[in-house]
Amino acid sequence: MSKEMQQLQFKLNDRAYDDVLFLSHTVDPEHDTPPVLKEYARKLSAKIDPERATPSERISPGGPVPQEGGNTTHFSVMDKWGNAVSNTYTLNFNYGSGITVPGTGILLNNEMDDFSITPGAPNAYGLTGGRSNALEPGKRMLSSMTPVIVLRDGKPFLITGSPGGNFIITTVLQIITNVIDFGMNISEATNAVRVHHQWTPDELRIERGLGTDTVNLLRRMGYNVVTGDTMGIAESIVKIGDYIYGAADPRRPGGLADGY
Ligand code: DON
Repeated sequence: MSKEMQQLQFKLNDRAYDDVLFLSHTVDPEHDTPPVLKEYARKLSAKIDPERATPSERISPGGPVPQEGGNTTHFSVMDKWGNAVSNTYTLNFNYGSGITVPGTGILLNNEMDDFSITPGAPNAYGLTGGRSNALEPGKRMLSSMTPVIVLRDGKPFLITGSPGGNFIITTVLQIITNVIDFGMNISEATNAVRVHHQWTPDELRIERGLGTDTVNLLRRMGYNVVTGDTMGIAESIVKIGDYIYGAADPRRPGGLADGY
């Protein structure tokens, strides 16, 4: 990606955040008990023949049962007819508001943090808001959640979305531009190093892996470049002709691209 294109993206990012946060109108367990890991390992190791390879068909998955993470989750789904679902859902923080609906075990979220308490005060993600996002009865708070279905010739072409609070919008934007503007396949688009600007704080946050030359050029242009942890966890699908390609973000190893 050229410096110019990146620059354009940052510019769009910081403005978009500024715009959305300050000006726009705001617009919503059952777990299987996983086996004890040591017991499970012992059970599996008892079946290993140290002298001979085990044919793959004799190895069934069996567990351990994947544990559900505590974070916001995104899934993208497409059926063989090309019907698509893009779904991001959240409790906001671990255990949400800490309140369950009696008799159901369902936790209520604490999306209330996404309202701006007072103009200019940052929420838990460092996002500052204005009056349009002030807390009012009967009003929905601003959300970064951006489940996306991009249509090509009127039909679902790219399905994507991500958890990650403040990083969601820039992550999703980069998936879309990586695929559409830079011609990457969906794995390349997902793995590509991410950058993020959210207006305040005035810093250009990057993942490790952006070229040193690019970083130096950006610094010379006046960007306060800060290297941070990974940003966003995109789970995406692209449909090209009769083929459906999925990519799970390696930033969250629990993700999976699968076909049935
Ligand atoms: O709605 C929002 O924008 C946030 N409450 C989403 C929170 C989130 O993505 C946390 N993720 N890891």
